[in-house]
Amino acid sequence: MEIRQLRESDAESVIEVARLSWEWTYQSIYSHEFIESWIREKYAKHAISDQITRSASGQNGIFLGAFQNNKLIGFIHAVVNDFETEIARLYFLPGFTRRGFGSELLRTAEEILRSRGLRRVRLYVQKQNNIGIVFYQKHGYSDAGYCDDDIEMVKTFQDRRGI
Ligand SMILES: CC(C)(COP(=O)(O)OP(=O)(O)OC[C@H]1O[C@@H](n2cnc3c(N)ncnc32)[C@H](O)[C@@H]1OP(=O)(O)O)[C@@H](O)C(=O)NCCC(=O)NCCS
Repeated sequence: MEIRQLRESDAESVIEVARLSWEWTYQSIYSHEFIESWIREKYAKHAISDQITRSASGQNGIFLGAFQNNKLIGFIHAVVNDFETEIARLYFLPGFTRRGFGSELLRTAEEILRSRGLRRVRLYVQKQNNIGIVFYQKHGYSDAGYCDDDIEMVKTFQDRRGI
């Protein structure tokens, strides 16, 4: 697997990975119609292209893709602003899960965030997404409470001396 910064030309692949991953992950939680409308709204091509461009110029966190044989198989998007750092999206194609790729992509993103001096990361996982919850717990994220249908999880990076 190769990990690299996404390019604007990857936007349609990001949308396709998101759509297939959402269908796989949330099929017993949300209706097909809800998933389609969410993808249309939150993954509009102009918005994804803009987020990719801003991340590439270091303005809006990081937006990395995981590729196999030049095909996008997963992505991670972390949003950084003055107040907080949030892992907003981490999605893999269903056929490429449980091979350690998600762990590798998350670790890569965390290293970049750490190298920028960021210490605390939050994220939200749908409360019925047991695979996602266990995955993040395994990576050191702790439950910080409920927020509507989501569980909020946080992780504080130790500095290099373990403090
Ligand atoms: C969550 C996700 C990113 C994890 O990536 P992955 O490549 O599948 O995970 P890894 O192979 O690195 O697995 C790490 C650990 O996560 C847990 N895990 C991953 N997939 C799992 C599955 N299908 N069933 C149960 N546990 C699973 C396991 O604890 C696993 O460790 P193990 O294999 O040693 O038991 C991926 O499954 C995915 O894209 N899921 C759909 C989208 C999603 O839920 N994203 C997170 C919320 S935004």
